[in-house]
Amino acid sequence: MFTKQTLTAFVGALALASAKTISTSDEYPTAAEIAASQASVLPYSPVSNVKGLAFNRFAQIWIENTDYQTAADDKNFAKLAKEGILLTNYFALTHPSEPNYAASAAGDAFGMDNDDFHQLPSNISTIADLFDTKKIAWGEYQEDLPYAGYQGYRYPESGSNAYVRKHNPLILFDSVTNDAVRPRQIKNFTTFEEDLKHERIPQYMFITPNMTNDAHDTNITVAGEFLGSFVPPLLKNEYFSKDALILVTFDESGNYSVPNRVYSFLVGGAVPEHLKGTTDDTFYTHYSIIASLSANWGLPSLGRWDCGANLLKLVAEKTGYTNWNVDYDNLYINETNPGPLSDGDYSTYEPLWPNPATSGKCTAGHGILDVVKRTYHGLKATFDYSSPIPYDAKSGTNTGIKYFRTVKGKKETRTTA
Ligand SMILES: *[C@@H]1O[C@H](CO)[C@@H](O)[C@H](O)[C@H]1NC(C)=O
Ligand SMILES: *[C@@H]1O[C@H](CO)[C@@H](O)[C@H](O)[C@H]1NC(C)=O
Ligand SMILES: *[C@@H]1O[C@H](CO)[C@@H](O)[C@H](O)[C@H]1NC(C)=O
Ligand SMILES: *[C@@H]1O[C@H](CO)[C@@H](O)[C@H](O)[C@H]1NC(C)=O
Ligand SMILES: *[C@@H]1O[C@H](CO)[C@@H](O)[C@H](O)[C@H]1NC(C)=O
Ligand SMILES: *[C@@H]1O[C@H](CO)[C@@H](O)[C@H](O)[C@H]1NC(C)=O
Repeated sequence: MFTKQTLTAFVGALALASAKTISTSDEYPTAAEIAASQASVLPYSPVSNVKGLAFNRFAQIWIENTDYQTAADDKNFAKLAKEGILLTNYFALTHPSEPNYAASAAGDAFGMDNDDFHQLPSNISTIADLFDTKKIAWGEYQEDLPYAGYQGYRYPESGSNAYVRKHNPLILFDSVTNDAVRPRQIKNFTTFEEDLKHERIPQYMFITPNMTNDAHDTNITVAGEFLGSFVPPLLKNEYFSKDALILVTFDESGNYSVPNRVYSFLVGGAVPEHLKGTTDDTFYTHYSIIASLSANWGLPSLGRWDCGANLLKLVAEKTGYTNWNVDYDNLYINETNPGPLSDGDYSTYEPLWPNPATSGKCTAGHGILDVVKRTYHGLKATFDYSSPIPYDAKSGTNTGIKYFRTVKGKKETRTTA
């Protein structure tokens, strides 16, 4: 018979075992390990109430692989967008899926141009580090994740795809998985329902529907029906929606040869009444979300592509920041900057892992994260992170794009050289 102490020790040991970082595909958990973790790993649902300039809660829901017009033509997407602000110039960053998800957490895709098993080194910081500077509770909800912090490639491990690791931003980082607690903040939809019921929803969350509901293995109609049943109850839920901003967007366009513009809209209690049913044609990328979260809550920058990204207008207006306009003529944003996670060989690149900026002004205006400044102290930033468009002069990715703005009556024009 277990005494209370031995039972606690036993459960504790399993919880720790599940938190060990998986760094190669040979280490995927076995069916027995999954069952043991399901029985023992406790999801962690911290709460906080840090006031933001434009919203007090942010949720982003990502759908998959669809061109802008295809989504606009779906009746459920169109109907929901009318309840908020439609963002008509929101761009994904590259192809295929995984680099877009990774970039949403770390401000760079590190050359990733594939959906492989990746585990990024511990010296790469993410939005989790930004939130932790002010103890802003964060979490992820991944549909069909078998237990909190599961690190396998997919689940179920065979048969039709439901949960996939490549759509789970924070699980990709050692700085998350090496921690004893953080993996338990990466939860599934069952826990979402429980967190909602018990009012322990975090202030920031990333929501990934399964491969059926996110259109990946189906089509836009299925994703529209999913959103049509998932989002409206959240909007009606005063606890969830009060002062909340919900972003619905796509990881990337479906056709790789067209501009990587994705249908995106903001709904929720933080959308001012007079802006409901309007459009916003500001240029945004997935990096704009990191920058906007920082500006909203007074958090530092990661010093990567979030540094120069345009801010959501709702936030920019509160901070007095002037966003950049861009020349859309040759703007595709469908290629990946070179880097260590590419299928191509960039081993001659020095440094292989790009250095972030450690000084200078970023759009959010709150400096650069301390651990980034310490880790990369004295190293030259690899790219020009002050640009709202990610680009690389050496390889020619996204170069030759003009961007401009007028600040205090003075016009500024630059080009991604
Ligand atoms: C969701 O996660 C919980 C807690 O980690 C686990 O007990 C449960 O079995 C999971 N639910 C599904 C549907 O996988
Ligand atoms: C995805 O989730 C829905 C419920 O939201 C379920 O009906 C469907 O079977 C799931 N897809 C897979 C492949 O398990
Ligand atoms: C999506 O698939 C369903 C069933 O397979 C079909 O009825 C629907 O027309 C499809 N939607 C589009 C936009 O092709
Ligand atoms: C993708 O876009 C290109 C460029 O507009 C077009 O030529 C091609 O037909 C498109 N492919 C599909 C499958 O629609
Ligand atoms: C990006 O789009 C351009 C223009 O259609 C096309 O030539 C190029 O192959 C695309 N890049 C990728 C990686 O698909
Ligand atoms: C970050 O980690 C990578 C991989 O371990 C390593 O190659 C690189 O030198 C590290 N960068 C710094 C600045 O420590």
